[in-house]
Amino acid sequence: MKEEKQPIFSVKNVVMDFKVGGKGFFSAKKTLRALNDISFDLYKGEALAIVGESGCGKSTICRVAMRFYNPTSGTMNFENNNIHKLKGDGLKIYRQKSQMIFQDPFSSLNPLHNIYYHLERPLKLYHPSNKKTMKEKMDEYLTMVGLVPPEEQGSKNPYQLSGGQRQRAYLARILAVGAEVIFADEPTSMLDVSIRLGILNLMNKLKTENGKSFIYITHDIATARYFADRIIVLYAGHMVEWGEVNKVILNPKHPYTKLLIAAAPDPEREEAVELPVLKDEESEVTVWTPESKGCPFRSRCPVAEERCSREFPEAREVSEGQFIRCFHQ
Ligand SMILES: Nc1ncnc2c1ncn2[C@@H]1O[C@H](COP(=O)(O)OP(=O)(O)OP(=O)(O)O)[C@@H](O)[C@H]1O
Ligand SMILES: [Mg+2]
Repeated sequence: MKEEKQPIFSVKNVVMDFKVGGKGFFSAKKTLRALNDISFDLYKGEALAIVGESGCGKSTICRVAMRFYNPTSGTMNFENNNIHKLKGDGLKIYRQKSQMIFQDPFSSLNPLHNIYYHLERPLKLYHPSNKKTMKEKMDEYLTMVGLVPPEEQGSKNPYQLSGGQRQRAYLARILAVGAEVIFADEPTSMLDVSIRLGILNLMNKLKTENGKSFIYITHDIATARYFADRIIVLYAGHMVEWGEVNKVILNPKHPYTKLLIAAAPDPEREEAVELPVLKDEESEVTVWTPESKGCPFRSRCPVAEERCSREFPEAREVSEGQFIRCFHQ
């Protein structure tokens, strides 16, 4: 029997509702549906980019995965176990193997301690019986992330490092903890453009050489293409297009993806992406609630039909490995 490749992290039909408002005497609480029917698989050594405009739910996916919230419905599995049901050792292992890297490299390290201190604690906790000396282990992680010479960089406090070096130090720390799946929420957006590529190259090395898996959240389509294998385009908490990164970026099919991608010129794209013209009357971003129906993009969509206000289309494969949820075409 052919053995099927198993995803390391798998999301099935996740819905996430938040109660919002309701602070004043007369204002009732409303329910905002931040994520609606999100499903994807992430495999070992693979990077999956999640893109979409501000407020579309990208960080919420990470926060649910970090167990800040239980999903309203649906499941997230790590190595086939539901992460929101984990207890005891299973939970400890998940906390070790799933790590997040944040936008702001200034807040993720303790300014009072040097970089060695940040590595020593997780190594003592998680790898106590290793034969190597603590110094050897720490230097190995620093070298792995390009903080060299390690003895010089390891003795520095965070304020003596640049933003890019801090992101490297933070990556060394989460690797020392035991990260296998890394949720990177705009990890380069606060860095100088010249430093961004270095961090992306490092993440790429961790992916290809060390088999780490990444969920890479970004506004930057060009870096998504550079680093990720597959991509999901989110709109108002809905997956509207997803698939192999080159297919989606070079030949987007959903009107929203076209809009997003046309805003990011790519010299390799053979044909110009035909830019949909937004409707004037209702071009504000959709706020989705559990009662909302239809396609969330319809009020801005230039090709919306009557049925788009009633139904959200089923996923369909428009070319091998590329899917959209849209009736058009
Ligand atoms: N704890 C919460 N309570 C209420 N609403 C929330 C909560 N967390 C997120 N939201 C709402 O859910 C939606 C998605 O937020 P999220 O932070 O995931 O967006 P994002 O795609 O990461 O945006 P950005 O690109 O600006 O970081 C937003 O409308 C946000 O206001
Ligand atoms: Mg965010």
